[in-house]
Amino acid sequence: MSDDKPHIPAGCPMGAGAAPSDGSASDTLTYNSYLRVPQLLDLQQYESDPPAHDELLFIIIHQAYELWFKLILFELDSVRAAMYADDVYEASRLLQRVLQIERLLIDQIHVLETMTPRDFLRFRAVLNPASGFQSIQFREVEFLTGIKDSNVLKYIELTGADRERLERRLAEPSIRHALFELLRRRGFDVVVPHDGQELVGDERDQTFAELLRLYQHPEKFFHLYTLAEALVEHDQNLLLWRFHHVRVVERLIGTKAGTGGSSGVQYLSSTLTKRAYPMLWEVRGMLSDTDIYESHTQSKR
Ligand code: HEM
Repeated sequence: MSDDKPHIPAGCPMGAGAAPSDGSASDTLTYNSYLRVPQLLDLQQYESDPPAHDELLFIIIHQAYELWFKLILFELDSVRAAMYADDVYEASRLLQRVLQIERLLIDQIHVLETMTPRDFLRFRAVLNPASGFQSIQFREVEFLTGIKDSNVLKYIELTGADRERLERRLAEPSIRHALFELLRRRGFDVVVPHDGQELVGDERDQTFAELLRLYQHPEKFFHLYTLAEALVEHDQNLLLWRFHHVRVVERLIGTKAGTGGSSGVQYLSSTLTKRAYPMLWEVRGMLSDTDIYESHTQSKR
């Protein structure tokens, strides 16, 4: 090559048009203009004055979470639509993407452990009363998944648009609802639980009997079973994130109260029982080796 510019393949946003050599602005699409990099890099504004060294990490990690939450919500919306459209393949495919992102989010929280409790104190006071508790998108993920606790709304100061978003999420059917509807359409005589409620009595027994049928015969109902287990993994990832988050919080602030006004670690520990699909967790405990023997001999017949 005559010059030492790297070869950039067509289709890569960086390759679509190099900046003009005279340094003037151009309408040609570039990596920076396409991805709005200057605007993105201008979004980290310190509250501390003079700026505390670790505040940049604190801002960027939260912003990165919010970006990933945006994509998770986008994909989960599509997962739910695919489930209502009976497209189990597409629902499972997109759910795998969500699970992969969630693994990243569980790991990512530990970057904060490179900040010492003392370094955090250099800017923690100026964050008051802001808190991750007020993350609208985190609540949207919970509501869309099927964890619908409207009480959290009482403690978050909401703009009109935020309230509208969360109320819409509360009102619309969750993925949990979509799953039970899908099972019914596929011949499982389950009762579809209302969002925010668990089944009781005969309805619960009948639904467990049907879920047992699914879990006794994973090979027979492979696609449905795979989807159900991916949803359990999504539920598990939310739990794992909560667990890792609370441990990081404990390392950084010990027993101090949260900036959002909660008791801190004590409150966060109380959320470690939240599950969107408790029946899917419970059903595996109902399997017995007799079921497995029967299932095995039936499938051999
Ligand atoms: C120094 C790091 C962090 C500390 C000390 C911390 C502390 C806390 C505390 C004490 C709470 C309870 C509410 C309160 O009273 O404030 C909370 C809630 C929460 N935080 Fe963090 N946090 C940190 C990092 C993060 C990050 C990186 C995220 C990513 C988005 C995050 C998201 C959340 C969410 C979503 C909640 C609500 C959890 C629930 O109510 O179930 N936090 N945090």
